[in-house]
Amino acid sequence: MYYIYHQKIDKMEDKNRIIIFDTTMRDGEQSPGASMSLEEKIQISRVFDELGIDIIEAGFPIASPGDFEAVTAISKILKKSVPAGLARHTKKDIDACHEALKSAKRFRIHTFISTSSLHMKHKLNKTPEQVIDSIKEHVTYARKFTDDVEWSCEDGTRTDMDFMCKTVELAIKCGAKTINIPDTVGYTVPSEFKKIIETLKNKVPNIDKAILSVHCHNDLGLAVANSLAGVSAGARQVECTINGIGERAGNAALEEIVMAMKTRSDLMPFKTGINTKLISKASKTVSNATGFPVQFNKAIVGKNAFAHESGIHQDGMLKNRNTYEIMTPESVGVKKTSLVMGKHSGRHAFKDKLSDLGYAGVTDDVIQTAFGKFKILADKKKHVYDEDIIALVDDSLIKESNVINLKSLKVFAGTGEPQKAEMTLEVYGELKKANETGDGPVDAIFKCIKKLYPHDVKLQLYQVHAVTEGTDAQATVSVRIEEKGKTTVGQAADTDTLVASANAYLNALNKMIIKREKTAPEEFEQERMKGI
Ligand code: KIV
Ligand code: ZN
Repeated sequence: MYYIYHQKIDKMEDKNRIIIFDTTMRDGEQSPGASMSLEEKIQISRVFDELGIDIIEAGFPIASPGDFEAVTAISKILKKSVPAGLARHTKKDIDACHEALKSAKRFRIHTFISTSSLHMKHKLNKTPEQVIDSIKEHVTYARKFTDDVEWSCEDGTRTDMDFMCKTVELAIKCGAKTINIPDTVGYTVPSEFKKIIETLKNKVPNIDKAILSVHCHNDLGLAVANSLAGVSAGARQVECTINGIGERAGNAALEEIVMAMKTRSDLMPFKTGINTKLISKASKTVSNATGFPVQFNKAIVGKNAFAHESGIHQDGMLKNRNTYEIMTPESVGVKKTSLVMGKHSGRHAFKDKLSDLGYAGVTDDVIQTAFGKFKILADKKKHVYDEDIIALVDDSLIKESNVINLKSLKVFAGTGEPQKAEMTLEVYGELKKANETGDGPVDAIFKCIKKLYPHDVKLQLYQVHAVTEGTDAQATVSVRIEEKGKTTVGQAADTDTLVASANAYLNALNKMIIKREKTAPEEFEQERMKGI
């Protein structure tokens, strides 16, 4: 007999069902510079729900009003996935978690405390006995709000094994239904981690009353290997993030864990509820929201993950794909770049195409704007690909709520003369014009924006990627800006890299304005009245 979602499961095949717990929006957001806006988190949650993630850790509600708001909003929109929130061992944390999650039909409170001697002594300044008392008090308290309580022993892999067994037994006794063993600092190796999970299975008398979970960080590049070792030893929940984002070197990558189990089901006969065909979409959504590009050679979701460059490999692939392909690109939702439509394609065909690309739910206004841009693009560019259309729609979605918009841009670049930009912006409905010279055309553009809408932000990241191949390809530009510790990421696509640069910067700025409006509405109103 076995439990999954706290239902007794007897069948052998169900015993091998692995619960996927995603922490992209909690641990993932702890990556330096990876903060996501509320709108982006909602968009990600919709994709994750569709992807089939079992539990979505939506945030750490006590950490900030923004986190609280995000967990609350996400709890209201999830259809299948169960939302979870993180709480330290304090009643205030647990109350905030409950408050943010309570509108969901089912929700999970995830509470944790450190158990290694190092953390107990230097971080918590608590004795092992005090930690034991805290577990008793706070797991019991969390259970007042839900029967779905997860307990984690932070720095688990550096914890004395006998003490860990004692704490785990107690947490289960107090009502925790999931016990998570984090490798907080990415220190363990597969053989050791396997032993830890096996010891818990063998030594904790009530272990069959809970699901064992693994949560691995990637400091030594072993997060996925360690997670799989944990599963092979009996863990039935894996905590992970899309694209492996997370603190320092990141967390175990969801896409790698799921596809490793699927591809090597001969050795790992486990199943997840993930619809793998949506993996690529989820990866792009997270990368767009965070502004963290996916490295080209990243397993499963990297641009080159299914590219075959060498002649020998290409020849083998043409003869039989299995020669060099262990999984198909289609199985993770990577479609062969397809030529889609040309300038004669109509609105109806365009709408059908959007639906095929996963944009069935977008509003008519967004379709109209994207269609207009598509027509312009089809006039400029010989081949319009799926990726071009995705970039156009994402761009139209982004612009829907902008208060500052680019109306026109002229740039004078080249050798000799200083680079110059002439720009017209619509700022809160008013047209404003400026021209500036700069240290390169992008600098001149950003200076114009600053002149027309004075502000003081730090540019943290400026990145250009080609959407497809060729010199007529659209460019997607990502910009990250920072103001008083808050960051926003903007993106835009255009065949003209400089237009995309201006729009990406404006997008980040528009998001920053929304953030300011929320956090300091009065200050913001004063600035607006001053015409800033
Ligand atoms: O890495 C860690 O220990 C964590 C816990 C809060 C689960 O993220
Ligand atoms: Zn972690």
